[in-house]
Amino acid sequence: MNRHLSRLLLVCALAVGLPNAISAKTVLVTGSSKGHGFAFVKDYAARGWAVIATCRNPTSATRLTAYAAEHDNVVVEELDVTDFAEVDALAEKYKDTPIDVLNLNGAINTFRFSPNKFGQMDYEWFNEIMQVNVIGQLYTAEAFLEHVAASDQKKIAVMSAVGGSIGNVRSSTAPSYRASKAALNMLFRTYGEAVKDRGVAVLVIAPGTVDAEDYMNTKDPSVIPAQFKRMIEVGALEPRSTIGKMIDLIDGLIVDDIEGFHKFDGTPMPW
Ligand SMILES: NC(=O)c1ccc[n+]([C@@H]2O[C@H](COP(=O)([O-])OP(=O)(O)OC[C@H]3O[C@@H](n4cnc5c(N)ncnc54)[C@H](OP(=O)(O)O)[C@@H]3O)[C@@H](O)[C@H]2O)c1
Repeated sequence: MNRHLSRLLLVCALAVGLPNAISAKTVLVTGSSKGHGFAFVKDYAARGWAVIATCRNPTSATRLTAYAAEHDNVVVEELDVTDFAEVDALAEKYKDTPIDVLNLNGAINTFRFSPNKFGQMDYEWFNEIMQVNVIGQLYTAEAFLEHVAASDQKKIAVMSAVGGSIGNVRSSTAPSYRASKAALNMLFRTYGEAVKDRGVAVLVIAPGTVDAEDYMNTKDPSVIPAQFKRMIEVGALEPRSTIGKMIDLIDGLIVDDIEGFHKFDGTPMPW
């Protein structure tokens, strides 16, 4: 079957709720244009999942769209989690598609490089961070709840952060980002209680800083950005394979595990 025909079949199959005709499982990943999100897309696709890879601007997400063009089990959709009309429209488009894993990955990530410090807070930006990292996440989860509940795996995987753990605070850095992730944790810990009776497992995960570009294995160290070089030196960057381990973790956790906040390797984190 030629590539264009099989892609057309995947899009049609997903839209009419027949992903199992092509793949055993379906994942929707938010924020797939780069970083962890793009790495999740590639690893899920390599495992044979049907992948709905969402990003805010497919036109500028050239690596993602090029990857999808080469992989028949990946479709790209536009999604900004703060654009409720867009979220609703996408949920409607896929209303007959069971989604095994809703991977809420897309966020404003400012932990290590944040100019938002106490005494110099940009409150407008703080508000935007909360809109994206907290409110948009729940809106998206609620919009896709029926899709998840109709699936086999029934999982909502929420990408939080070590920085969102109140019990782990050791410095005053990145307060707005930390606050957004702490709020996210509470929101989804309670959401987990709300939906567990439907068998839906809401899993809050701290993904760590993953070497999504596989800089550690590059043959040309000059391509490594300075901040990543430093992180590699101090051992603060997790290898690219960590994304696959997180998929294994999500696969393995069940509704009984929703009381835990898990690090990427499964280690329990203090909330
Ligand atoms: N990397 C880390 O150090 C680290 C550590 C702990 C937790 N995390 C968490 O892991 C997740 C991924 O991080 P990352 O390092 O891959 O971040 P990243 O490279 O900055 O990528 C963030 C992604 O989120 C998307 N995004 C931003 N605003 C959005 C919105 N309103 N709606 C939908 N998508 C939006 C971005 O899309 P655009 O391309 O359109 O901007 C981008 O694809 C985040 O939740 C982050 O907080 C990361």
